Order: sequence, then structure tokens, then C-alpha cells
Amino acid sequence: RRSTRTTLFSILHALTDSSCLCFSGGRSLFVTSDPNTNLIITKVDKEADCQICVTEASKQTCKPQMYRLKNLRNASVDFTCPQPQKVFMVEINKEIGKPVQADNGFFPNYNRTFTWDIKVGTTQTFHLDFPGPGLRQIPNGGTCPDGHTYSVILYLHRAAPATIGTFCKGGPVTSVLGQYKGRVMLTVPSDVNLDPPDFQLKVGPYSEVTAIVRVKLPRGVSDTEFITPNYPKDFPDDEQILWDFSVPEMHNYSVQFSEHSAPECLEEGAAVEVEYQKEGKNPTRTSLTGPQPQHQQGGFNLTVKNCKTNLTLPGLSLRYSVSVMRSGHPVLCTLDLTKQEVSVQIEKVGSDPLCEIRKDSKEEKTIKVAKGETAKLSFLDCPNEDLRLTATELIACPNASLCAPTLLFVPTLDPCLPMPLHSFSWFFTIPHEATLDLVSPTGSLRQSLPGQECDPSSVVGVGEKDGSFIGNFCSNGEIQKLQIHSNISITATPQDVKRSKEPLLDVSVSPEIKETIIYRISPNLTSPTILVTPNWPTGMKPHSSVSWIVDLPWMHHAHIKFAISGLECENSHTRINVKHQEGGSDLLDINESEKMRTENTTARQSFYLNVTNCQPEGRDQFNVKATIVLERKTNLLPILLGLVGAVLLLLLILVVVCVVLRKKKSKMNSQSSIYMGKGNIFRPNDGHFVKTRADNDSHVYDYIDDSMVYGHLLTDN
Ligand SMILES: *[C@@H]1O[C@H](CO)[C@@H](O)[C@H](O)[C@H]1NC(C)=O
Ligand SMILES: *[C@@H]1O[C@H](CO)[C@@H](O)[C@H](O)[C@H]1NC(C)=O
Ligand SMILES: *[C@@H]1O[C@H](CO)[C@@H](O)[C@H](O)[C@H]1NC(C)=O
Ligand SMILES: *[C@@H]1O[C@H](CO)[C@@H](O)[C@H](O)[C@H]1NC(C)=O
Ligand SMILES: *[C@@H]1O[C@H](CO)[C@@H](O)[C@H](O)[C@H]1NC(C)=O
Ligand SMILES: *[C@@H]1O[C@H](CO)[C@@H](O)[C@H](O)[C@H]1NC(C)=O
Ligand SMILES: *[C@@H]1O[C@H](CO)[C@@H](O)[C@H](O)[C@H]1NC(C)=O
Ligand SMILES: *[C@@H]1O[C@H](CO)[C@@H](O)[C@H](O)[C@H]1NC(C)=O
Ligand SMILES: *[C@@H]1O[C@H](CO)[C@@H](O)[C@H](O)[C@H]1NC(C)=O
Ligand SMILES: *[C@@H]1O[C@H](CO)[C@@H](O)[C@H](O)[C@H]1NC(C)=O
Ligand SMILES: *[C@@H]1O[C@H](CO)[C@@H](O)[C@H](O)[C@H]1NC(C)=O
Repeated sequence: RRSTRTTLFSILHALTDSSCLCFSGGRSLFVTSDPNTNLIITKVDKEADCQICVTEASKQTCKPQMYRLKNLRNASVDFTCPQPQKVFMVEINKEIGKPVQADNGFFPNYNRTFTWDIKVGTTQTFHLDFPGPGLRQIPNGGTCPDGHTYSVILYLHRAAPATIGTFCKGGPVTSVLGQYKGRVMLTVPSDVNLDPPDFQLKVGPYSEVTAIVRVKLPRGVSDTEFITPNYPKDFPDDEQILWDFSVPEMHNYSVQFSEHSAPECLEEGAAVEVEYQKEGKNPTRTSLTGPQPQHQQGGFNLTVKNCKTNLTLPGLSLRYSVSVMRSGHPVLCTLDLTKQEVSVQIEKVGSDPLCEIRKDSKEEKTIKVAKGETAKLSFLDCPNEDLRLTATELIACPNASLCAPTLLFVPTLDPCLPMPLHSFSWFFTIPHEATLDLVSPTGSLRQSLPGQECDPSSVVGVGEKDGSFIGNFCSNGEIQKLQIHSNISITATPQDVKRSKEPLLDVSVSPEIKETIIYRISPNLTSPTILVTPNWPTGMKPHSSVSWIVDLPWMHHAHIKFAISGLECENSHTRINVKHQEGGSDLLDINESEKMRTENTTARQSFYLNVTNCQPEGRDQFNVKATIVLERKTNLLPILLGLVGAVLLLLLILVVVCVVLRKKKSKMNSQSSIYMGKGNIFRPNDGHFVKTRADNDSHVYDYIDDSMVYGHLLTDN
């Protein structure tokens, strides 16, 4: 209201910036001018022998009990005892200021009361807003744990000042509105450093209600207590107070009057009015003893209006609580993993604070249910996309000779789990002397690579147990078999439930291999086959080796083009070696000494591509990409030779067959053997074998006419 817009903050600065700020005996405290601020120094310990002496314009005045410096002028303040902070308290009072702040350095060792007096026009209200953590109401006369106790006092037209409430920092009360004239009081004891008060003052339009307390109830379960002004003393006559509650969505509230005292109204038939108002609805009236709302939803106003009371009797006072709970009913699931070799994890990934997941009634951010366990789960107000369900199975093979091949299926989880399965992982552990062989039930595998991505619903990710990733694979491609000499994890992300019923991989155990990974490849005849090192396009694991055994189809050779990242090795060497499977000289044999480049070579027959990594220096990464393009051999000579050879072979066969037939016919009677499964064993020339038509060939058929033998079957039909 004043033309001077100086804030208390700057006044306090001015005060502390003055030439001397001494609190101990004998020295002076200088204060500078501020026409809006009053300083009241009060002796608390009335018995103490100490005076306050104020020097203004060279004139000193001493007072024993209290000194009030109105509209602060340049002055110096002296105390006549050595430790005045033990005897005096200081009140720093200012009329209306915004934003209101205070300075920690001001009278730090004294019990301090900061008061802000507010006065607005008769057609206005003042709003005290407490942004940030808000306020919590405590019993009047109480003190806050952090030493900062706020009180809001209202000066009424018709009655004595009323304490609207006493508050501590941190709570659901966001603002207090009052008519005409009020005071905010902050008390801080001498041993507490002042936290700058954080409230704002605004002026709003007239309201019929004496005071309004705005409350923003928090989400989740809570029970908050409120009391009427002056409680446990009387609420002033003829006044009304309104609590404006905002209730979070998907919550129910209930109001419970815990303690009240009803006045005797002087007017015939009058009573204390309790009124509830919900947005867009007509107000509902009840009384102090009447029913209060139970399990309602949405924001509401509660107004308590006093009558003119018989002041000789106890007046109106009320203590009540508003309890808030979740309105929804949880989805329950009892997950029994005693019969499944599966462990389950459910993680809250959404940021919706309303979503609540519980395991055995304990709220969690991540629920883990291990195999063999049974747990009661509950999900409250959680959209399915906010929850991530993952499951794992451990397949341990401590002895390679005892491990049976495993066909990997995504198992069906308990249908009471409301969310879809996000991913399923198998963890394999095998002894060091063993290797895992991965083949596709459909015959071959393909690696998902940029430009040749697998269908995401059928992809499996393969990684080593130490965290190094190998690649994503799906069915039908150039990889006949994948062998890994490591403990691995295989992860499926079954987006399609029907698909997940099909086996994904066939995993078996074979003897140890020298390399970390061996791929067996049959390159594609029509399109280029791309081979990449594990974890492409990031580098492959240090000190690991990969080998591709590439089998070329008949009459084809392969052009191999390499893209190799250059790097420096800290120790050992990288090596890329290409060699025909049948031996011979290296087609390519390079190491890290050359920088990043491309290379190419041609393999005339099936070949090996072996890659070894060193320990790269720093953040260097080593990766290799080989592109294989098959080409039909164009040289006609081998084809012609092949053809000639084939014709010669055919002729030879014909000749041999003829000769054999002839010989067979003439030697039909010579020794041969007949095997009979049961009974006597005999040879034709044994002598036991007596044949009446001995040398007669009548039983030897040259030719059997099928139509004669089976003629009876060849009827019309
Ligand atoms: C108060 O003191 C300051 C300097 O300390 C001076 O500038 C100012 O004029 C004085 N005010 C009065 C009212 O004496
Ligand atoms: C300061 O306040 C504390 C409690 O808050 C009280 O015990 C003490 O007596 C007060 N001291 C003075 C000097 O007011
Ligand atoms: C509650 O009271 C306040 C202040 O009078 C008003 O602005 C608000 O609209 C009321 N809310 C409801 C739900 O009636
Ligand atoms: C107030 O209550 C007292 C005690 O019941 C009674 O004697 C007195 O007459 C009442 N006063 C009024 C104004 O009704
Ligand atoms: C919340 O209130 C609604 C109706 O007001 C009721 O149907 C629901 O059951 C309540 N929720 C709880 C958890 O009591
Ligand atoms: C693995 O099992 C075979 C057969 O039972 C046994 O002979 C062999 O000693 C076992 N090996 C180890 C390392 O336990
Ligand atoms: C070869 O590549 C073509 C085109 O990419 C593809 O359609 C075909 O299925 C592949 N064949 C094999 C055996 O992978
Ligand atoms: C797998 O892990 C086990 C135990 O951690 C270890 O003994 C074994 O050597 C590992 N297997 C391979 C192939 O590294
Ligand atoms: C790496 O290759 C270069 C050039 O081919 C050769 O001089 C060098 O000896 C090789 N280093 C090793 C360790 O094989
Ligand atoms: C790769 O092959 C092409 C022709 O096939 C040749 O021109 C080129 O020089 C070769 N590149 C390397 C690095 O050997
Ligand atoms: C390349 O790998 C194959 C398969 O593991 C192996 O048989 C061959 O000896 C290796 N060649 C070289 C040069 O290391």
C-alpha cells in the first residue's frame, strides 16, 4: 500500500551492512533508516540487570524493559550487559511487503520473531501463498521441529484477533486468505539459523468468508488433521471459515469430526452450520453431529459458520481429519513359481505416480519373484505399458557329458499377470571344457544387421555372461550353426504370443573349441552375405577370437570384401586370416599395423575367416565386416572335362554292367549264400539241400510280366 516498494530483504541488508554489528557488551549496533520497519527489543528475563540504550541524533535514551524503534532511523543500540542475547528477544516488524524475505545475519543469536503486518482495503482480501513445500497445521502454541514456526493471525472487525492456524514447513496447506487486516508471524529460537521464509503476498477480491484455507491433499493414502481458528479456544461469533480442498484424481476422501464443542446459539433455532460444496453441485448442509462425507471423489469446500453464542458457555471448536485413499481396486495375482524353472521380475517403468505395485503387501518399484517362490502381487492403477515384465530361466550344465540338448520355447506364465511379457532370457552355464552349439529349428540363422533387420517379434539376442553382446539373430539365413565357448544369455522379446509358441533355438553342448565363437556359413547364392564381428558395429571383445567356416557351393567362388577399423593395440595383436579349408597359402593375413582400410580377396573354394582381437589401447574398438559375393566359375575347361569324364564314366558303367550280367547268368549255379532269419542255416552246396530238378533251369525266370502276375487286380476300376 505504500509508495516505497523496498522489500524487507533489502532493509535487512541495509541493517547488516551498517558499519558495526556487535552483540556483545559495551559495543553498539548501528541501524540505518527505513520508514517501514519497526524494531522491538523486549527483555525476556525481567530480573536481569541490563538496559537498552539507543542513541539517535546524538541523544541517548536508555530503557530497562523494552525499546520500540518506530520507522527505523539511523541509530545506535547499546546494551549494558555482556550477553544481551540471553536477556532480550528481538521483533522485526514490517508492514506489508512483497516478496517477503529475511536475512540470516540479523540478530543471529537472539530468539527472533519476524512479523509481517498486512492490511488491505475493506473490499479486498489478502492471499498468503506458500509455494514449494506448503505448510502443515499443528496445534496452536506448538513449535516446529525445524525451529521455524509460522502463525497466521487475523484482526477481526467485531472480535479479538483470531489465530487462523499455526504451521510448519512442508504440508498440504498452500495458501491462507483473510479479510482486511492480518499478521504473519515467524518465530525462530536463538540456536537455529534462519531459513529464508518463502511465501508470497497477493491482494484479491472481497470474500464473505472470514478466512479461507486452501489445501492440496497429496496422492496416496493420507490422513490430515485440521482445527478451527483459536482451537482449543472458541471460534469467534458470527464468523465463518472455509477449507478449500483439492483431492487428487482416482482418490476417495472421507471426513471425520474427531472432537468438537457446540455453542449455545442465542437466536432461536439457530445452530452452527456445516456446509459441503462440490464443484457444479448444490451445497449440502449438515451439522457438527450429522453425517460427514464418506468415500467421495473430487475437490470440495467445507464451510463452518458460527452463530451468535452465549459467551458464558463453551463456544465452538472443531478438530477433524480428512482421509484420502486410492479409489481404485487393485488387480491381484498370486504368482506360484514352485512348478516352473522361471524367475520373474516386474519393473515400474512409467512415471505415473498413481501406479502402485506391491509384493506381499509391500510397495516396491521392482518386484522380483525367484523360482520356487510364491508371492501375492497387487497392481493398482497401473497402465500395462507402465510395467515391464521380464522372466529368466537358468540352465546350468555342470558336466558336459550329462547335458541334453534344449529346445528353447518361451514358457507360458501365469495368466493372472495383467501385463504382457516384455522379454524372456535363458542363462546358460557350461564347464570350461564345453561349447554351446546354437542352431535354428528351421535349419539356419540370420544375423540382424542394418539394412537386413530381423522381424522384431522373432529375434533373439545373444550375449556373453560378462555382458559383452554378440548379436541379434532370427531364423532362415546363412548361418548353419553358431558355436560359443562361453557362458551366455539368450533373450527373446516375444511381441507375438502365437509366435512364442514356436521353438526359437536348439541349444546343445559340444566339446571345447579354441576360438570364442565359430560361425558355420553357407553364403547366399543370390545376394551378398555379410559377416560381422560380435557386437557390431561396436568393437569385439578384447582378446577374443572368431572364426567363420564358410562352405561354398559347387562350382562357385567367393569375392570377399573387408571393412576393418584401425586401432592401436596395448598388448598382443589383432589378426585377420583367410585360408582355404584344404590348406595352401593365406589368402589374406593382416594385423593392426595398418590403419583402417578396405581389403578384398577371392576364395576359389570353401575357406576359413579367422579374426583375433588384441587388448586395444584406450577407447579404441576393433571390428571387421566382410561381404561375400558368390560367383559361378566361368572357366569352361573343368566343365568340359567334367562332361567328358561323366560320359566316359557312363560308358564304363554300361560296359561293367553288361559284363557282370553275363557272368552272373553263367554262374547262377555256383556257390552263393542265403540268409534265413530263423531256423536252419544251410548253404546250397551243403548236401542237405537236395533239389529234384537240380540242373534244370526251369525255375529261373528271364522275365516276369507284371500284368500276368497281378492281372486279377487290374479290373475296370
Ligand atoms: C543515515 O546514515 C546514512 C549513512 O550512514 C546517511 O547517508 C543518511 O543520510 C542518514 N539518514 C538520516 C535520516 O540521518
Ligand atoms: C528462547 O526460546 C527458547 C525456546 O524456544 C526459550 O527456552 C528461551 O527461554 C528463550 N530465550 C529468550 C531470551 O527469550
Ligand atoms: C470453494 O471456494 C472457493 C473460494 O470461495 C471457490 O473459489 C471455489 O470455486 C469453491 N470450490 C467449489 C468446489 O465449490
Ligand atoms: C447463557 O447461559 C447461561 C447458563 O445456561 C444462562 O444463565 C444465561 O441466561 C444465558 N445467556 C443468554 C443471553 O441467553
Ligand atoms: C471409492 O468410492 C467409490 C464411490 O464413491 C466406490 O465405488 C469405491 O469402492 C471406493 N474405493 C475404495 C477403495 O473404497
Ligand atoms: C561327468 O559325468 C561323467 C559321467 O557321469 C563322469 O564320468 C565324469 O567324471 C563327470 N565329470 C565331472 C567333471 O564331474
Ligand atoms: C538369399 O537372399 C535372398 C534375398 O535377400 C533371400 O530372399 C533368400 O531367402 C536368401 N536365401 C537364403 C538361403 O538365405
Ligand atoms: C561358466 O561359468 C562357470 C562358473 O562361473 C565357469 O566355471 C566356467 O568356466 C564358465 N564356462 C565357460 C565356457 O567359460
Ligand atoms: C604385422 O603386419 C606387418 C605388415 O604386414 C608385418 O610387417 C608385421 O611383422 C606384422 N606383425 C605381426 C606381429 O605379425
Ligand atoms: C578390390 O578389388 C577391385 C577389383 O575387384 C580392385 O580394383 C581394388 O584395387 C581392390 N582393392 C583392394 C584394396 O585390394
Ligand atoms: C581358423 O579357424 C578354423 C576353425 O576354428 C581352424 O580350424 C583353423 O586352424 C584356423 N586357422 C588359423 C590360421 O588359425
